[in-house]
Amino acid sequence: MSVQRISTKPIEGQKPGTSGLRKKTPVFMQPHYLENFVQAIWNGTGGAEGKTYVLGGDGRYFGDRAAQVILRMAAASGAKKVIVGQNAILSTPAASHLIRKRQTDGGIIMSASHNPGGPKEDFGVKFNTPNGGPAPEGVTEKIFQATKDISEYLILESQDVDLSTLGSRTLGGMEVEVVDPVADYAELMREIFDFDKIRALFQSGFRIRFDAMHAVTGPYAKAILEGELGAPAGSVVNAVPSPDFGGGHPDPNPIWAKDLMDTMFGADAPDFGAASDGDGDRNMIVGRNAYVTPSDSLAVLAANATLVPAYAGGLKGVARSMPTSKALDRVADSLGLACYETPTGWKFFGNLLDAGRATLCGEESAGTGSDHVREKDGLWAVLFWLNVLAERRESVADIMAAHWAKYGRNYYSRHDYEAVDSAAANGLVDALRARLADLPGQTVAGLRIEAADEFAYDDPVDGSHSAAQGLRVMTEGGGRIVLRLSGTGTEGATLRVYLERVETDPARLQDDPQAALASIIAAADQIAGIRERTGREAPDVIT
Ligand code: G6P
Ligand code: ZN
Repeated sequence: MSVQRISTKPIEGQKPGTSGLRKKTPVFMQPHYLENFVQAIWNGTGGAEGKTYVLGGDGRYFGDRAAQVILRMAAASGAKKVIVGQNAILSTPAASHLIRKRQTDGGIIMSASHNPGGPKEDFGVKFNTPNGGPAPEGVTEKIFQATKDISEYLILESQDVDLSTLGSRTLGGMEVEVVDPVADYAELMREIFDFDKIRALFQSGFRIRFDAMHAVTGPYAKAILEGELGAPAGSVVNAVPSPDFGGGHPDPNPIWAKDLMDTMFGADAPDFGAASDGDGDRNMIVGRNAYVTPSDSLAVLAANATLVPAYAGGLKGVARSMPTSKALDRVADSLGLACYETPTGWKFFGNLLDAGRATLCGEESAGTGSDHVREKDGLWAVLFWLNVLAERRESVADIMAAHWAKYGRNYYSRHDYEAVDSAAANGLVDALRARLADLPGQTVAGLRIEAADEFAYDDPVDGSHSAAQGLRVMTEGGGRIVLRLSGTGTEGATLRVYLERVETDPARLQDDPQAALASIIAAADQIAGIRERTGREAPDVIT
């Protein structure tokens, strides 16, 4: 086995986005594309020499090939060891846990999260730091610089490593340890939640439907929900991960998890429904006839956290991304907890979690998590809900109604305009940015605008500054419109419009969100000229 030094040239556009480098699979499969980026990860983080990494992914198309390349490159650059999930599978939260538990120098996760997979769909590579979290901007910037300076990469000439059987083997001078992807994660969940209580809930006849969407959480949910907690066989559906996610779009929201919604709103619905995404970090929660928005779910978990053993002593603080609704803030106020507002992207929670300033955090984009790992965690959120339900023995709908009665309801919706012409989308944002200062005092669609700004974040732990994180327009009565361009799309631009309004009138807590938000929606269109500038009559996705 010899180390090959391959000459290469920088490849345009290898800038990690919200969540690593994410591109169409054929782009990743181009000669040198993956190799350049992996070498840039080593080069941008002080080299791989002597390091130990975790490697795994969500099982999407090309992941098995990419794993072999990454292993050969790690070996060629002198890494000491790589811990790999069997068959190169690891859910993102399980990878985060392994990185922490084994005190490694970081890890590489091969996933494009909730984006479809397959020869023509998406692939991604993300570097996580030793705390188990996605690399912060300072690190991704160094990796990006390294992609621009690259002139060669190192790769071992060798056969494929067997990743199908557990145990250790060597590759060149490097150890490759193949581990069960589920075992360590399941053990962590056992430490956090009251498994006996949840088991008793299922014994009482409680029914769940967990839709793994043909993605990575299938084996995790089968082992934990059905295997350990005694949910009836068949409770976990679409449980076998497939390279193209069964041809579906593994994003747990009411549109892409429509089957689950139909079941939960149909006759003989189970008590509880949930789904997770491609790599297992997102979650969707739905009760019988009751969809729970991610923002509300975060608030409910915060309000009920002390029912869970690991959080029984109370939360240190909570955090949400800026576009996430302020339902969490209302709970934090009432509990006297610090509530942090960060830019979109899980990486921004890392410092708050590491510094012990926040225990629980979440995003409108279906991510919820805590300080148990440094990624959001889909199955953890489901177990959290189950633990709360096992304690309260109320329906999801009743829990929501009681929550809104106590805290008020933040009606909330996100409207996405996908694959919009990039120039048009940037034009829209630039034009609105230029008008922000003029907006306060104006009345639009019957709503008085109180304030408008562009969100920037100063990290309270390391002092880093992140500018241009979304445009915000605040209206009277606690209304809010947020506009930003997605950092995870792979085609044109995705314009996200986040809409929110607070309601405290007890008679108006069960309205249809789109109706409750009608004037905010109209104001957003007028302020930003959405229809006119995008040429779209309606959003592609409404969450
Ligand atoms: C990923 C990230 C999240 C982020 C979401 C949406 O899931 O991990 O932190 O909220 O993408 O990001 P986007 O930039 O597309 O709105
Ligand atoms: Zn994901």
